[in-house]
Amino acid sequence: MARQQARFVCQQCGAFHAKWTGRCDGCGAWNSLIEELPREELPGGRIKGGLDRRGGRALGFVGLTGPSILPPRRKTGIVELDRVCGGGLVPGSAILVGGDPGIGKSTLLLQVAAAIAPGEERSPGQAAIAAYITGEEAIDQVRLRAERLGVAASPLLLAAASNVRDIIASLDREDAPALVVVDSIQTMYLDTLDSAPGTVSQVRAAAQELIRVAKRRGFVLVLVGHVTKEGVIAGPRVLEHMVDTVLYFEGERGHQFRILRAVKNRFGATDEIGVFEMSDRGLVEVPNPSSLFLAGRPGAPGADEAVPGAGRVSGSAVFAGIEGTRPVLVEIQALVAPAILGTPRRAVVGWDGTRLAMITAVLDARCGLSVGANDIYLNVAGGLRIVEPAADLAVAAALVSALTDTPVPDSVVFGEIALSGDVRPVGHTEARLKEAAKLGFAEAWIPRDRGKRRATAAAAGFQIAAIGHLSELVERLAPRHALRGQSLGQRRIVAAS
Ligand code: TYD
Ligand code: MG
Repeated sequence: MARQQARFVCQQCGAFHAKWTGRCDGCGAWNSLIEELPREELPGGRIKGGLDRRGGRALGFVGLTGPSILPPRRKTGIVELDRVCGGGLVPGSAILVGGDPGIGKSTLLLQVAAAIAPGEERSPGQAAIAAYITGEEAIDQVRLRAERLGVAASPLLLAAASNVRDIIASLDREDAPALVVVDSIQTMYLDTLDSAPGTVSQVRAAAQELIRVAKRRGFVLVLVGHVTKEGVIAGPRVLEHMVDTVLYFEGERGHQFRILRAVKNRFGATDEIGVFEMSDRGLVEVPNPSSLFLAGRPGAPGADEAVPGAGRVSGSAVFAGIEGTRPVLVEIQALVAPAILGTPRRAVVGWDGTRLAMITAVLDARCGLSVGANDIYLNVAGGLRIVEPAADLAVAAALVSALTDTPVPDSVVFGEIALSGDVRPVGHTEARLKEAAKLGFAEAWIPRDRGKRRATAAAAGFQIAAIGHLSELVERLAPRHALRGQSLGQRRIVAAS
């Protein structure tokens, strides 16, 4: 029979090509074609190498309930990390930690590996609880860092290696450590493959081998992954599918806050964040992020009260948000300036630009405030990224405040804005108000909610302003502007009063 013609398959989109090319015609990916031999077809339509029923063994199906022995989660001693992982590390699982270069991945993981507490099930022959394998730095560099972090005395196994065969030979044994950190997966290589370390096939194959050993020996495998400029983990997306948990370590370079965020977690929720502060002694946990995010706010405790004008400024509102299970207060800053060029400029940091457009449109159409024609700059202070729609009302407050040059009184604001301009109730009202009270706020602007919640909040000595429509916020902040409008919202106010 004639030799089967080879075909080239794009590893990104799966398109077939008769010839190798540098760029896939199907999806435009570069260097993604890999040669594959098609299976031979036998007479009768069967495929050679394809499966038929006779060779297989019937599966023993079971029910959803039944005895299962899950080893307990392992606490790392770093509470912020444990919470992001869903309450500790699950033995036998693989975790991918991504983040920009220099953000502090190696620092965090060295601290974790040094801090992880010995569990009761530690076997007698086990030399150490954690191993740290670095393919990026020299041993001395890591030692120097350990000394700076104050963890040099911990019984950690340290190795500089990048050959996966060696690593597996050292880990595939009874007394394997409970936690293995591989920093980074892009520096690892399998000598059975031709391609250079960091290429798609190497990254994928190396991760596969390491994960297999982790599952077999039941240790927690932490892979460090580089992130490209576009914000995806370099290498195949498939890496994210292979691991159980994907964590992103993010933060602004100019700020010392670092935020650990779960984007995928097979063993817990993905909306938790861990907040750290980079200090000269490594990463320090921030158990109360609100005070950190509000620290530099004018009028905050510690701000210079003696300086005139150092009090409240316009264009700033405090949003009482929820990150995972934890309330977090952040300052939302807005600057509205007349547009010089034809198309108004929009610059948004830490929030969704589309949502901003929606709110300016609602302010325009329902409240008669022409915000949209101006240049708008919106910033979430402290480098936090907010995804909650509950921030709508706080953003609107910051925008109206900036436009009318009226400071927002010392209150927290939250609520979702509908396209009609109605302000919708959001969840966790109690938790948000409690956090605000803890930080010294005594007033809150919240959605109008028929029910008992207001009563309980008011009992805590809190002044609540219930806002049912966005125009009520404008009315409250800048009555002069509110009366000038001729929209539906204005008429409502007039009708109500
Ligand atoms: P690193 O963990 O090497 O980043 P990554 O592994 O994500 O590339 O972090 C390096 C940065 O952290 C570097 O800019 C210096 C800073 N750093 C501190 O500020 N304090 C410290 O104690 C340490 C160890 C690092
Ligand atoms: Mg590093």
